[in-house]
Amino acid sequence: MKISVIGCGYLGAVHAACMAELGHEVIGVDVDQSKIDALAEGRAPFFEPGLPEILASAIATGRLRFTTDMSEVADAAVHFVAVGTPQTSGSYAADLTFVDAAVDALIPHLAEGALVVGKSTVPVGTAARLAEKVAAGAPHASLAWNPEFLREGFAVQDTLGPDRLVYGVPAGDAGVRAAGILDSIYEVALKAETPRKIVDYATAELVKVSANAFLATKISFINAMAEIAEATGADVTWLADAIGLDARIGRRFLNSGLGFGGGCLPKDIRAFRARGEELGLGHSLAFLGEVDAINLRRRERMVALTHESLGGSVTGKKIAVLGLAFKPDSDDVRDSPALDVAARLLLDGAEVVVTDPEANHTAARVHPELTFVDSEIEAIRGADAVLVLTEWKQYRALTPDQLQDAAGRIILDGRNCLDPELWRGAGWTYRSLGRPDAA
Ligand code: UGA
Repeated sequence: MKISVIGCGYLGAVHAACMAELGHEVIGVDVDQSKIDALAEGRAPFFEPGLPEILASAIATGRLRFTTDMSEVADAAVHFVAVGTPQTSGSYAADLTFVDAAVDALIPHLAEGALVVGKSTVPVGTAARLAEKVAAGAPHASLAWNPEFLREGFAVQDTLGPDRLVYGVPAGDAGVRAAGILDSIYEVALKAETPRKIVDYATAELVKVSANAFLATKISFINAMAEIAEATGADVTWLADAIGLDARIGRRFLNSGLGFGGGCLPKDIRAFRARGEELGLGHSLAFLGEVDAINLRRRERMVALTHESLGGSVTGKKIAVLGLAFKPDSDDVRDSPALDVAARLLLDGAEVVVTDPEANHTAARVHPELTFVDSEIEAIRGADAVLVLTEWKQYRALTPDQLQDAAGRIILDGRNCLDPELWRGAGWTYRSLGRPDAA
């Protein structure tokens, strides 16, 4: 099938490459010329495991092209809209400027029977509004909403083998037709018995935001337990293991620590709350304010723990920060808890030396005032304290022997990813969020 993907960021670039990998003929469109140039040469403009490989193979088949010229999408039968919906500056609401601009730009190029498929995360009610726009500007075309659940770091795998497909479609024949088109696009996943739900627009939009709200709530729940554990001497990681054994609860997304960041969970819960207020249902989603507050308190606690561990003040102290990305296997620092903590410690007067296997360049754009080095070994040299703030595999595997050149023997684990016994046994002060200090 001939497909266009409008917006070639984290979501769109992966979607375009994966759709071509599945055998479709794909054209990716973005307004950013440098992004399009990189993608056209098979270079991923961000770090995503597996993406460069499928980009290269799809481009080589001739099935994947990129352009900044919207008119080139005219012969596509399906147009995925995968542009960003960031938080509006000065408000919690989602900024829909890019979604509206993408649909407006598409309308003049929609062929007879074309299907516009929204993938972006949007406030409930958006699809119905956009459907009216399409009906007015291109009555021969229609619209569906097909939210995306991919995780950064696993984006290729999640797109090629999703755990579910959700189609938000209009009522009647138009909906049956839209579902049929989406079925043929996702034929491979459907043959692998991927569950698919055909729902209305509002439900499809809500499935996406409520899934992210639930995940955020689960993380903040365990982080609230970490606060209680800190005050009572309990160990939140043991608690998570024990409650996670209840299949109704489950152990996944119960990792306590610095909390959630990234381009999705934080802004999505805020946008959801803002939409709840607009609907006069602020009370239904008020708890998400608490989820957000618990999450942000973990960063403050990490900064306070660093002060405490260094005798009450970090001024003039050298602090090594290992990890800047919002999670491992990503170079994304949007709303990154790790980067936030590093920047706050710098403001507090510490000399902060930071490193990340992939995110140094993205972090340097936001906080160029930090001192960036290329490896953990360089970062810890002469450091009074070492902070592990993103649980990259290589940091989880660190041993006291490798950090001999640190000046102090203090390691603060912001992700509960290190073995306290190992570090304490080697004479280090090991402290974390939600685990007891040594007796
Ligand atoms: C999230 C959702 O997991 C995806 O399903 C969704 O498609 C995506 O948002 C989106 O809306 O596009 P992502 O932002 O890639 O995916 O990251 P997650 O893996 O959800 O992690 C989010 C944050 O939560 C990270 O900062 C991570 O460190 C933190 N986290 C995760 C915890 O603190 N504890 C956990 O147990 C799990």
